Amino acid sequence: MASAKTLWYCTNCGNESPKWMGRCPACGEWNTMVEAPVEKKGSKGGAKAVASGSKGERKPLRLKEIDRSKEPRLQLGMPELDRLLGGGIVPGSLVLIGGEPGIGKSTLSLQIPLVSGLKTLYVTGEESARQVKMRADRLCGGAVGESVSGAFCRNGLRSSAEETDSPAAPVEDTLIFTETRMESILEQAEEIRPELMIVDSVQTMFTDTVESTPGSVSQIKEVAAMLLRFAKESGIPVLLIGHITKDGYIAGPKILEHIVDVVLQFEGENRGAYRILRSIKNRFGSTSEIAVFEMTGAGLREVANPSEMLIPMHEAGLSGAAICATLDGTRPLLFEVQALVSSAVYGTAQRSATGFDTRRLNMLLAVLEKRAGFHLSAKDVFLNMAGGLKVSDPAADLAVVAAVLSSNFDYSLPGDSCFAGEVGLSGEIRPVANTDRRIGEAARLGFKRIYVSSFTPLGEQQPKEIKIVKVADVPALVKALFKNA
Ligand code: TYD
Ligand code: MG
Repeated sequence: MASAKTLWYCTNCGNESPKWMGRCPACGEWNTMVEAPVEKKGSKGGAKAVASGSKGERKPLRLKEIDRSKEPRLQLGMPELDRLLGGGIVPGSLVLIGGEPGIGKSTLSLQIPLVSGLKTLYVTGEESARQVKMRADRLCGGAVGESVSGAFCRNGLRSSAEETDSPAAPVEDTLIFTETRMESILEQAEEIRPELMIVDSVQTMFTDTVESTPGSVSQIKEVAAMLLRFAKESGIPVLLIGHITKDGYIAGPKILEHIVDVVLQFEGENRGAYRILRSIKNRFGSTSEIAVFEMTGAGLREVANPSEMLIPMHEAGLSGAAICATLDGTRPLLFEVQALVSSAVYGTAQRSATGFDTRRLNMLLAVLEKRAGFHLSAKDVFLNMAGGLKVSDPAADLAVVAAVLSSNFDYSLPGDSCFAGEVGLSGEIRPVANTDRRIGEAARLGFKRIYVSSFTPLGEQQPKEIKIVKVADVPALVKALFKNA
């Protein structure tokens, strides 16, 4: 009997296996295999059918035969989000928005039709129609349908001023559909033919062609494949929402990442005001771009200039803080790195880093110990990146070192200085990519001094308002910063 057969899937990478294994042979993660029944006979073969083109009528084309005309993109009415997508959403694309529960996925996706005015089918399997309505009222700062445009603009959800007196048309074009069965959703979508479809969330949807319960790996794979097929055939872009659990074990967006065209992921603390949306995969634009949003009482507000919000309001004078000039994607981003160095209470010193790799912190501390003679092994070191950011740019090293030393000496760094450099194992300070851009952004924000590697190749034209201080190694940095300490 074929129907009794099951397969095992890795929830981390989607690898299939005929039997359970403690460790996934493909990605090496432990304890990630879950059981899922094989699709019923006669189902359409899921993702494979999409990849090969379901009708078998397509032929290979010569490169020069392919139409190069630029894909028109749909604007979602939120400039930062459009920029993140590479200039709007591409018709027929499937975009996954992932993030932990409560971070703002539903809020963002409901805001899109309200702000853009696109005819949207909003399918939700998580909330009742009334709940969605209440949320929409909240986003509009009043009852939807009554003097909406005015309320919108006051809330700053609309960006451009000229839209201030546009009619309240958008809201009437948002159709809310509380349904979880894919077959009926797609039937409605074919009939309505919206400009945009939103599905909240992939974990609650199910299809009749697969036997397992909603949220299981095989359901998620098949639901995503059906949506991809629908998007490609109809040309309607689909925004799909997916939850990521804290432990990351439940079947989820990891597998989806391979199927969809674009993956946007929310980062940041649920309790903090700022949410960062990062593009992890984008078939139509660059990745590792970010957009920053602020969660307000009336929805998410775009923060066009994140550096300004991440730089501290307090005047210089606190020790343990250093401003770092990083690059996130193509966008320079300046923010505060905070360190606290104190004598260890217990025998072994604690090291903890939020938003920064702890192993990298340990390495930097070892470099400080070995190459510059600071005995930090008996000290607790805590490190924090402002605004809940996660930083992987090596240029943050220099600011981390400066912040740690500043806290260690209890000597504050001048508030008008910032740092961009990688620290190597022998204590040398190495140049980082696009230093010119970082310098430009620092100058624009009014910084007076930026510390970079001596080996940085710099362009001829540098802003006059900022002094570029070149340091060769950690001892040179210590000398430059803490002469008086
Ligand atoms: P939500 O979009 O429901 O999260 P997700 O869909 O990712 O699970 O966001 C929920 C949180 O956002 C909730 O804690 C309340 C908060 N929130 C606001 O602060 N302001 C608002 O206008 C809205 C709609 C939600
Ligand atoms: Mg939600």
